[in-house]
Order: sequence, then structure tokens, then C-alpha cells
Amino acid sequence: MNIKRLTYRLLRRVFSNRRLIFFLMGRRQHNSADQGERTSFTYIENISDLTLIGVQHDEIYRTVVEELKGGAHTLLFLDRGRIVNFSCLLFGGGYVGEIRRRIVLDKGSVYIYNCFTAEEYRGRGLYGSALRCLQTRFNNRPLYICCLNDNYASLKVIEKSGFERVAEAKYLSVLFFESLTVDGDLELIR
Ligand SMILES: CC(C)(COP(=O)(O)OP(=O)(O)OC[C@H]1O[C@@H](n2cnc3c(N)ncnc32)[C@H](O)[C@@H]1OP(=O)(O)O)[C@@H](O)C(=O)NCCC(=O)NCCS
Repeated sequence: MNIKRLTYRLLRRVFSNRRLIFFLMGRRQHNSADQGERTSFTYIENISDLTLIGVQHDEIYRTVVEELKGGAHTLLFLDRGRIVNFSCLLFGGGYVGEIRRRIVLDKGSVYIYNCFTAEEYRGRGLYGSALRCLQTRFNNRPLYICCLNDNYASLKVIEKSGFERVAEAKYLSVLFFESLTVDGDLELIR
């Protein structure tokens, strides 16, 4: 982990005040996403698959490796051997760092998290395409995603892609004091 991320995490330990919105794309809501888009993305389930496609070993690559080691699947968009967009997926729930809780979902549900586009590739529709690609791939399963209430770019894409708000979590922590309120239908555990 690099110094910037470590410092950020330490500061978040001291003080954190966040609102996180959870979205669901239910089975019946899935639209007929463009099948053609799937070919542009590479779906990776483990590190050996990543090694096979021979991508550039930069910071984004290392983040993807960390996620794969943690048991996530990833959807990647490559440009000349470089990962320029990725999304991570877990099945049946996962840890939500922003509120320091695990979200518990049905076994068949897919939880999409840690989506990222390299800065110089932003605004070209990669995130939206990745979400549509995942909707197509998992069109018979409930898809969950969450986003901080002030992440306007992410909120816009999530809502434009047809996800619907199902819950909101308000989280406050100051040193050892912690409070969490959840409005909506969501099971969270420590
Ligand atoms: C959020 C993120 C993944 C978006 O990636 P992207 O590939 O640029 O997304 P897209 O190009 O598909 O769409 C971006 C949309 O947000 C809009 N947008 C960008 N900045 C915005 C802002 N400050 N306010 C409102 N909308 C904004 C763009 O106009 C675009 O909408 P449009 O297609 O209708 O024009 C990228 O900004 C990122 O990696 N951010 C850091 C990590 C992060 O926040 N991840 C999301 C966690 S839930």
C-alpha cells in the first residue's frame, strides 16, 4: 500500500463523517445492455488469469492484484496493455470500508465495489460501459453497488445505468466513538 493511501486510512480512523447510498439492480430491472460491449472488457477471476494477459505492472495493476488476493473478481478495461478501468465484485456481500461494516446479501447477489477509471481516461464512458457489461453478465442476479453521497460522477453513472436506491447509511466516527444509522433495507454486521 502506498503512503498516500495509508495516510488517508489513518486520518479516516481519527475522524470520519460519511453518507453512503446503496443501490440495487433487481433481476427484472436489468435492461438489454449492449452485448457487443462485453468484448471490450476482460473478466478476471484469479491472479493467474491476470498474469496470462500480461498487463503493465503499475499502481492500478497492484490494486487489482490486492483485490484478487482478497477473493474478488474484477472486470478490466485495457488500453495498450495498461489497465485503465476496473471494477471489483464479491458474491453474497463484502466489507464496506467507508462504514467499517460487512454488507450481507443473498448468496446469489453480486456486490460491485471499488470501481476506478485512470484520470486521463475519465469522462469517456468507461465506468458506464463497465456497469452495463456487468448487468449483461449477471442479468439473472441481483446487483448491488454503493457510493458516497458526494461522489457526483459515480452517482450520475449509477443512476443513469438504472440502479435504484435501496438504503442509506450515515456513519460518524471520532477516535473511539462511532455511530451508524441505516435507513432502508440492508443487513450490516461488524
Ligand atoms: C467515478 C469514476 C469511476 C467515473 O469514471 P468515468 O469512466 O469517468 O465515468 P463515465 O465516463 O462513464 O461517466 C462519468 C459521468 O460523470 C459526469 N461527471 C464527472 N464529474 C462530475 C461531477 N463533478 N458532477 C456531476 N457529474 C460529473 C460526466 O459528465 C459523465 O456523465 P455523462 O456521461 O452523462 O457526461 C471515476 O471518476 C473515478 O475513478 N473516480 C475515483 C474513484 C471513484 O470515485 N470510484 C467510484 C466509487 S463508487
